[in-house]
Amino acid sequence: MTALFSLEGRTALVVGAAEGGLGAYAARALAAAGATVAVADLEARADDLAATARECGGSTHHVDVTDEASVGALVDAVAREHGRIDVLVACQGAMLRREIGLTSPAEWQRVLDVNLTGTWLLDRAVLPVMSEQGYGRIVNVSTVYAERVGPIPESAYYASKAGIANLTRSVAQEGGPHGVTANCLAPAVFYPTRMTAPLADDPDRLEWFRARTMLGRLGDPATDLTGPLLLLASDAGAYLTGQILYVDGGWSAW
Ligand SMILES: NC(=O)c1ccc[n+]([C@@H]2O[C@H](COP(=O)([O-])OP(=O)(O)OC[C@H]3O[C@@H](n4cnc5c(N)ncnc54)[C@H](O)[C@@H]3O)[C@@H](O)[C@H]2O)c1
Repeated sequence: MTALFSLEGRTALVVGAAEGGLGAYAARALAAAGATVAVADLEARADDLAATARECGGSTHHVDVTDEASVGALVDAVAREHGRIDVLVACQGAMLRREIGLTSPAEWQRVLDVNLTGTWLLDRAVLPVMSEQGYGRIVNVSTVYAERVGPIPESAYYASKAGIANLTRSVAQEGGPHGVTANCLAPAVFYPTRMTAPLADDPDRLEWFRARTMLGRLGDPATDLTGPLLLLASDAGAYLTGQILYVDGGWSAW
């Protein structure tokens, strides 16, 4: 039965994998399941990325997902170095906690570029590689806010993450005939990561988030995403595609 979840012989690319974030935990989980793992993040995060790579082996790549050429070079390099790309985890992200009236068009565009266009560029670049192989697992990362909003004004973030959900369905549609699945992980609040660490200054908000879950606790970045990720990344998820998998302690079920 464990063979179903094994990634022995598979190559996974995790983007947004610098130490301290969900991508780093994802990279470690995929490596522990047997995958060769290529990790990627901004050049500015080189030290943190190297820290992830030291634990996972595989290869290290600098990428800016907002730049088409950079994404193309990343996918070419990983495919060349490892011979194939079986799994993509698009875990990069940008957050902007700001009211709509105080958000400039440039700030809106930046969040959209990193979250939505970046995911689109990554999916678009790996799809031909996976289609050629006749096998692929695309895991895009949205949020529990994929189809709702939360108490903090974050219009650019919410819009970008909703876009990722429907982008994923569309990629699933195009990849299906070629043996490629595409699904979304939709986490609630996982704490702490680099993105959620500022919540330490807002204990009332943290408590609100905790109470919003049915399980009465925040997500643990080290453990709570591992099983759902391996399901979507392995043969266990062979007949799962176009889905938004909420990993939210019951948040979205109220
Ligand atoms: N932590 C949570 O509670 C939570 C909840 C729901 C969804 N998410 C999503 O999970 C993903 C990871 O979030 P996290 O909490 O680990 O935050 P994080 O800030 O630690 O991770 C985001 C990563 O993306 C990288 N990145 C940013 N811009 C990039 C670019 N242009 N090119 C390449 N890499 C870039 C960052 O350097 C960073 O390593 C994000 O998509 C986030 O929206 C997180």
